[in-house]
Amino acid sequence: MIRLTVPYVDHRELEEIEKVLQTGFYTQGPKVAEFEKKVADLVGSHYAYAMSSCTTALQLALHTLELKPGDEVLVADYTFPATANIVVTEGQTPVLVDINLDTFSMDPDDLESKITDRSRVIIPVHAFGCSADMNPILEIAKKHDLFVIEDAACALATTYYEKYCGTMGTLGCYSFHPRKAITTGEGGMIVTDKEELAQKIGIFRNHGGVKGEYFYHYDEAGFNYRLSDIQGAMGVAQLEKLDWILENKRRLAAILREKLQGIEGVTPPIEPAWGGHVYQSFVVLLDDGIDRDAVIHSMREKGVETTLGTYAVHAQPYFIEKYGYKPGHLPKSYQAFTQSLTLPLYPQMEDGILHIVVDILKEVIKENIN
Ligand SMILES: Cc1ncc(COP(=O)(O)O)c(C=O)c1O
Repeated sequence: MIRLTVPYVDHRELEEIEKVLQTGFYTQGPKVAEFEKKVADLVGSHYAYAMSSCTTALQLALHTLELKPGDEVLVADYTFPATANIVVTEGQTPVLVDINLDTFSMDPDDLESKITDRSRVIIPVHAFGCSADMNPILEIAKKHDLFVIEDAACALATTYYEKYCGTMGTLGCYSFHPRKAITTGEGGMIVTDKEELAQKIGIFRNHGGVKGEYFYHYDEAGFNYRLSDIQGAMGVAQLEKLDWILENKRRLAAILREKLQGIEGVTPPIEPAWGGHVYQSFVVLLDDGIDRDAVIHSMREKGVETTLGTYAVHAQPYFIEKYGYKPGHLPKSYQAFTQSLTLPLYPQMEDGILHIVVDILKEVIKENIN
């Protein structure tokens, strides 16, 4: 089976992890601090806090803003449901915003139309390693005095013109899940330039504790969202490979895009005007006449793993039941949910494998086009 993605690891992860194992101290420690510093330096952020996942990072980012129950948080609808779930679990109201199909990211016009006097936060998502069009989103945030939390789960090292995703809003969150550019198994990170928020994040991440001379005192009711030093060590080794990983993914994505040009019914992802796409996933859109799920099934039968792009949150049972959405309510997000297809792409993939994927896709599309 040709896999969707295969994380790239070598002896360096083991070497770094072994150093930690020999210390006898495994929870958050010096390797996590080193990993945080390296990510902060990479993206040019003042503060970086490693977390147990991007979901806990997003939740803590929102928690730190100390909103009131029922305050509204505007969330891009086409995303992994974690982006909206954290709003629900924090006690605020998610207001789902449609996307533009070219970048799969938040549509600024739909965003503006959904702002009310209860709006407090915007959560744009940088889908599949491509930045959302941030300038209009940031302008709307400024005009209405709203916080911005960037869901940059898929966008470590993605740029928007000269800036790094995660550093343009109030807070930004990355994921180190195995399908992302670099991985720590599970893991995430929050970056921010805001000192007051950074201090709160450090406290909430560690049970709400502040260290005195010998003991902690608990100023807040916090969480344990720490990343272990074993994972921090893996992150440090993975970061050494990041340039190589991105270079290879971009090269392979360019080949894939070129080879897909001639296939009827398949729209490859765009290179946006602002550049900086890192191809966390290579997601194409299939024309309406093509049964996407049948394509996934046939590809699997022929030995190629593919999947949907991601989810339309409004079409998930919980959001339908609790907020009264109907599937298709946010039409572009729904179209992306039903017609998107992620193709295999990983940095160590041989070019020949890519050619096999395209040949099989061609065959399968021909069989499934109406
Ligand atoms: C856009 C987006 N947000 C959040 C998450 C959650 O990340 P994690 O698995 O690190 O909790 C994901 C994971 O796939 C994601 O794609």
